[in-house]
Amino acid sequence: MLRRQFLTGLGLGVGASVIAPQLAAASATGTTPLAAGSPAAMIKPADWVALRNLFPLTKKYIQLSTFLLASHPRPVSDAIEKHRRAFDENPSDYWHQHFLTIDRDICQSAADYMGGKAEQIALTDSTTMGLGLIYSGLQLESGDEILQTVHDHYSTDMSLAHRAKRSGGSVRRIALYDNPALVNTADVVKRLTAAVNQQTKVVAATWVHSSTGVKLPIRAMADAIASLNKKRKANRQIIFCVDGVHGFGIEDIDVTTLGCDFFVAGTHKWIFGPRGTGVIWGNERAWSQSEPVIPSFSGSYDVWLGNLTQDQVPMGEHMSPGGFHSFEHRWALPEAFKLHLQLGKANVQKRIHQLNTYTKQGLSAMPHVTLYTPLASALSSGLVCFDVQGMPAEAVVEHMHKKGIIMSATPYRNSYARFAPSLLNNEQEIDVALKEISTLG
Ligand SMILES: Cc1ncc(COP(=O)(O)O)c(C=O)c1O
Repeated sequence: MLRRQFLTGLGLGVGASVIAPQLAAASATGTTPLAAGSPAAMIKPADWVALRNLFPLTKKYIQLSTFLLASHPRPVSDAIEKHRRAFDENPSDYWHQHFLTIDRDICQSAADYMGGKAEQIALTDSTTMGLGLIYSGLQLESGDEILQTVHDHYSTDMSLAHRAKRSGGSVRRIALYDNPALVNTADVVKRLTAAVNQQTKVVAATWVHSSTGVKLPIRAMADAIASLNKKRKANRQIIFCVDGVHGFGIEDIDVTTLGCDFFVAGTHKWIFGPRGTGVIWGNERAWSQSEPVIPSFSGSYDVWLGNLTQDQVPMGEHMSPGGFHSFEHRWALPEAFKLHLQLGKANVQKRIHQLNTYTKQGLSAMPHVTLYTPLASALSSGLVCFDVQGMPAEAVVEHMHKKGIIMSATPYRNSYARFAPSLLNNEQEIDVALKEISTLG
């Protein structure tokens, strides 16, 4: 008997209730959807003021670093609270009532936002977990090489280093640009194409570099890899994996048209999802060459019980690490995707690029500032990296904090000062931050 049938037999299936009606009415407070007319339900496309009011962020500071870890907007925190209460009241029944379908619903909401099919999406706790899973799980043969870049985050570097240590595979790093401010698509593609050799089986890259603010031309890189793949046998096709976290929630793309095979992102940064959530999207080719690292608690459990065959379980489900999670967070994730769709993906992209361009124009007019992030929106996104002459990045961050402006220093060996103008900022705030930087000259 499938777990689904067994649980339905117990009366614990989805929608079933074993609670006495009067108690059900009382506990329903925990599951009431947001009332029409609540602040979240009223958000209109591109209503940035209303959006800002959904966040409990202190108004004591100008927040130019919210991308590090999201503050929860009202629809997300309300959903977390709803699930938390229900779990605290009756964890076993609440889980049994939802677990059979809720992951698929979450993946569907992710697909509604990012494109692709729900079945191709795995749920994770972070970008780092997603990267660790795909780079650990990819099937490689001895002699296969992973080609990565010198611009990747610690999470990619170390996932690959751990993989290489375990399996003896080799990892090679290349630079796709020397001067970030002057990066250009043709040069990136040329360097990538020149670096691939017969052993290269995986290309690992990062969409938007948190070190420099450069946004890589993923589509052009994918096209170059596709041309190389045309000359290769089926079992030698290169898999292109992208850490997409700093474009996800900004760029108006459909992941299936970006051109990569794996797209990994945390959903607790620009997306404003619950802290401790993330997704992996993979196309058929990529997933079919991967093994799960942590067993999933999905239909694969029924494969183990002997009730299903593996091909009856959607790939993303099979690849989602199992065990019990902080479900109140994971289950609230659809609210973040819905919020972005309400705002409008094109509007979000336009607004964030507008604020970032404004910031870069201001900084580039200051003689004591070196701007590292390209001015062009085609090659940058929501991060602006710069140096103030004669001041280490940490000192800039400290000075600005004392002035009520929260920014960050890039956590890389070459550390730069970094602004992340987001949907939670406006031009007046950017003006205040720029004025403060101008006094450092
Ligand atoms: C490019 C990049 N990838 C991955 C991460 C790690 O993200 P997460 O906290 O979701 O694991 C970061 C850090 O914030 C990052 O800048």
